[in-house]
Amino acid sequence: MPRPTGLPVVASTQSVPAPTLVLSSRLDERRQAALVALVGPGSGADRELDVRATGSALPPPTSYEAVLLDTATDALDPAWLVALLDHVSHGASLVVMVNRAAPSWPTELASIAVAAGPLTGQAEWFARLVSPTNPLTRRLGPPRPAGGDAAPELAVLDRLCPLEVGPAGEVLVSVSMAFSDRAVVVAGSLGAGRVVVSGLGNTAEALAHPDLATILRRSLAPPLTWGDRLATPRTLGLAVVGYGPYGGMGTYHATAAQVTDGLEFVATCDSNPDRRKAAEHDFPGVRAYTTVDELAADDDVEVVVVATPPVAHADIALRLLRAGKHVACEKPLCFTVAQADQLMVTARQHERVLTVNQNRRWDPDFLAIRRAVDRGLLGQLFNVETFVGGFEHPCRAWHSHTAVSGGAVYDWGSHHLDWALLLMGGMPATVVAHGHKRVWHDVTNLDQVRVHLTWPDGREAEFLQSDVAAVRRPKFWVQGTAGTMVGWYRPLSVERVEPVRGHVVERFHHAEAPADLTLARYESGYGTTETRLPPSPAQPFAFHANLANHLLAGEPLAVTPESARRVVAVLEAAQRSCEDGGSAVSLRPMDES
Ligand SMILES: NC(=O)c1ccc[n+]([C@@H]2O[C@H](COP(=O)([O-])OP(=O)(O)OC[C@H]3O[C@@H](n4cnc5c(N)ncnc54)[C@H](O)[C@@H]3O)[C@@H](O)[C@H]2O)c1
Repeated sequence: MPRPTGLPVVASTQSVPAPTLVLSSRLDERRQAALVALVGPGSGADRELDVRATGSALPPPTSYEAVLLDTATDALDPAWLVALLDHVSHGASLVVMVNRAAPSWPTELASIAVAAGPLTGQAEWFARLVSPTNPLTRRLGPPRPAGGDAAPELAVLDRLCPLEVGPAGEVLVSVSMAFSDRAVVVAGSLGAGRVVVSGLGNTAEALAHPDLATILRRSLAPPLTWGDRLATPRTLGLAVVGYGPYGGMGTYHATAAQVTDGLEFVATCDSNPDRRKAAEHDFPGVRAYTTVDELAADDDVEVVVVATPPVAHADIALRLLRAGKHVACEKPLCFTVAQADQLMVTARQHERVLTVNQNRRWDPDFLAIRRAVDRGLLGQLFNVETFVGGFEHPCRAWHSHTAVSGGAVYDWGSHHLDWALLLMGGMPATVVAHGHKRVWHDVTNLDQVRVHLTWPDGREAEFLQSDVAAVRRPKFWVQGTAGTMVGWYRPLSVERVEPVRGHVVERFHHAEAPADLTLARYESGYGTTETRLPPSPAQPFAFHANLANHLLAGEPLAVTPESARRVVAVLEAAQRSCEDGGSAVSLRPMDES
C-alpha cells in the first residue's frame, strides 16, 4: 500500500474556485491583453477571469477569490474598498499594482506597503529576489552561483514605482535605483488573507516576464490552499533508477535534485553493483537498491527518475506508477504510442504525475529561436530542418544497439522532433523516414536516418541524424514567410600544452555549445538584413525546478505526458517507415490529444 503523499494532481482534486477580478484604471487594449495573458486561461491560473475598468458597476468583492487592483485605491468607491479589505481579511488574495503615490491609502494596506514615488521612465532594472525562500518567490530566477549568498536577479524592462515598507510588510523584490535599494514588491497578511503590493508590472513587457508573472500569479492564489502548499517547506524524496556515471543521466539527475529547492536525492536503483557503490560514495547516506521493487517499497521516495537505457523505460515507469510514485522518465518515454497510452492511463488511475526529461526544450539556442518565432520575426513557419551528427565511429555501447535504443531515430530524434513539433504546433499528418546502413557494421543502429514530416496544410519539417556526414549541415534551418533562421554548430575544443605531453586537444560533443544563430529577414524593396542572435540565458536544471513547482505548488507541468506522447508517435512512425523502406506512415489526429 503506497504511502499517501499529499501531492494530488491539482486540477483533478479541487472544486472550481470563484473567479479572479482584475480591476484597472488604465485598461487600453495592450494592458488588457497583458493582464489576460498574466492570469487568464492558459496562464496556469486555475480560475476564471473577470476584467473590468474602474468606474464600471462592480459585484460585491465576495464574488471573487482573488482581486488584482491595477489602480491606485483612491480611484475606487470607498464603500467597495472597505468591503474588499474585509473580504481579504477573511481569506481572499489581493494584489495591488501601483503606478503612483496616492493621497489616501487605507491603513490596512499602509501597514504592508505604500506607493512612495512617481513612476519612473521605462528602463531595464535588476529586480533582486531578496527573499528566495518566501513561498511567493521560491525556485524563481537564475540559480545562485555555487556557495554564493547573492540574491538571484531578474532583468525586467519596466516603469516602476518604489514602495515604502510598512510594519507588517515583507520585501520580496527590490531594485537598486541610483545605488539606493528600493522595495518594489512587498507581501503581508491581512487577517486570514494575503496582500501583495507591487510597484513592478507597469508595462506589458514586465507583465510578460516569466518570473515576475509567476510571483503575481502565486500572489493571487488562495492563501489557504494552494498558497499553503507552497508555504509548507516540504521536500520531495527523489530516486533515480539507473545511476549512469558522469556523462550519463543518473549522476546528472541526482546532482540536479540536490541543488533544486524542494527535491532531495534519497535513493537509487541500479542492476550494476559498481554503480550502486558509486552512488553511495557520491551521495553518502543515499540508499542503493538492486531491484525496482525494492525501490518502490521505499516510502521516502515520492518521485522517481527513470534513467535506464530506453528499452526498460516503459516497464519500469509502469511499475513505479502502480506503486504510487510520480515518474519523470528520461527520453524517449517509450517506443510506441500503445505503451505511452498505457502509462498515461496508469498515471491518471493512480493520480500520479508522469513527465519526461525533454531538457533540451530549455537549450539556450532553441529558446532564442522560439522567442524569435513567438515575436513573429520569421512570419508564419512552413519548414523546419534540423541536423545532428558528423563522420565518426558510433559508440559501442547500448546507444548504438537497436534492440536497446529502439533505433537510431529515438536518441537525438527525441529532442529534435520535439523541437519541430513545438515550433510548428499541431500534429503532422504523415511521416516518411529513410535510413542508410553502409559503413559501421559493428553496431546495429543505422548510420543515417532522415525523417520527413508533413502537416495537413502542407507545412513540413525534416530531421537528419548521421554518423556518415563528413561535412555538417546547420543544426537549425527554419523558414518562415518573413525570414529564415540558421543555426550553425560551434564544436568546442580546448587546446593546451602540458609538461612532458606537449600539445593536448580536448574535444567536446559538437552539440554541447549553443549554435551560432543568424536571422535573415526580407524587407520589400530593400533586400535581406541579417542579425546575429545571442542564445537565451542558460537555465540549468529548469526541468527539475518545474517538477518541484508542479508537485509542491500545483504550477503547470512544463512537459506534459500528452506532449511526450506526440513525440513518441512521430518516433514510432519514423522507425516503422525506415523498416518499411521509406513508406509513408499516417498519423491519426487523435495523436494530438
Ligand atoms: N535528456 C538527455 O539529454 C539525455 C542524455 C543522455 C541520455 N539520456 C537518456 O538517459 C537514459 C540513460 O542514458 P545514460 O547515458 O545515462 O546510460 P548509462 O548506460 O550511462 O546508464 C544507465 C544505467 O542504468 C543501469 N541499468 C540498466 N538497466 C537497468 C535496470 N533494468 N534496472 C536498473 N538499472 C539499470 C545501468 O547499469 C547503468 O548504470 C537513456 O534513456 C537515454 O536516452 C538522456
